Amino acid sequence: MIPPILDLDAFADVPFPVATVKELRAGQRLSISAMGRQLLVLWNGGKPRVYLDSCAHLGLPLSLGSLEGSVVRCRYHGWAFATDTGEVAAQPTLRKPRPCRLERWGALVAGGLVFAWMGDPEAEEEIRCKLPPDVAENFVLHRVKFQCPFYLALFNAVDYAHFAEHRFYSSVYAIYRRLRRDAHLPGQPFHWTVVEEADNVVHIRLEEARRDLRLYATCADFEDEGGVNRFQTFVTPQGPHETLYWECYEARSSNPLTRLVANTVFRSVVVHLLDTEDRDWTSIASSNFVRGENIHLSETDLPLGTHLRKFVLPRC
Ligand code: FES
Ligand SMILES: [Fe+2]
Repeated sequence: MIPPILDLDAFADVPFPVATVKELRAGQRLSISAMGRQLLVLWNGGKPRVYLDSCAHLGLPLSLGSLEGSVVRCRYHGWAFATDTGEVAAQPTLRKPRPCRLERWGALVAGGLVFAWMGDPEAEEEIRCKLPPDVAENFVLHRVKFQCPFYLALFNAVDYAHFAEHRFYSSVYAIYRRLRRDAHLPGQPFHWTVVEEADNVVHIRLEEARRDLRLYATCADFEDEGGVNRFQTFVTPQGPHETLYWECYEARSSNPLTRLVANTVFRSVVVHLLDTEDRDWTSIASSNFVRGENIHLSETDLPLGTHLRKFVLPRC
């Protein structure tokens, strides 16, 4: 296999999360790294705005500056830029104003998350189609940084075959399988069928697990039969080998006690697995996988193969 290279051009119109609505509303501005750049994320009165976090004077991070009404002011020499458009609003160090603006990326709110994309900021409707139609609004979030390409991180979320191999999880998993009368045996291949494949999403049915999985470019949407547990995993590519992993869990039972237990299990079991073995495994696999030596995708590694073909050069 030829080592995959992240194709940034293929990402111009791919949305990735940059903040929760709650944290951006509270902080009004945040700085986050994505796509190898540092971004300034602004709330702008409910209309999210994303700019490169670089002042159009000498490139100082504007996130170090201050928000003053409808402008963001740089802390170095006081240049100010409109939060809505990024147009320069004040240049106190110049005798004669010189037109310039911040580099703007697209931004939108879906459910409880704020998303950004690199391409045309006006293409909101087109970009929205690349996300699940119902991004969760109320969820328990665990965010963790993985040292691996985004597609390995996303695959980790849907790789049903590895779940039972977690040391800490194996006994819990055995009980869980029995409760669900789940026919899938740990370590055994499982069967899946593609229900639908469109440009923006692959819908897969995992037969033994009786689960539906929808895989978008930067989101895995995973629901139990009956819709009691829902996981939406988002990934923010930060660099070729760095990914911010957003595990959004929604307990959907109408019984408050069941929801309490489910949320507690998420916080103790799932969070623990992500922070330990998943993070370690993906970072170790990353260097081997990206090197491409002696790597053989198996058929249950779908949709990794589909995913790779879309975003990684050379197309494999
Ligand atoms: S670098 Fe921002 S005002 Fe000079
Ligand atoms: Fe895992």
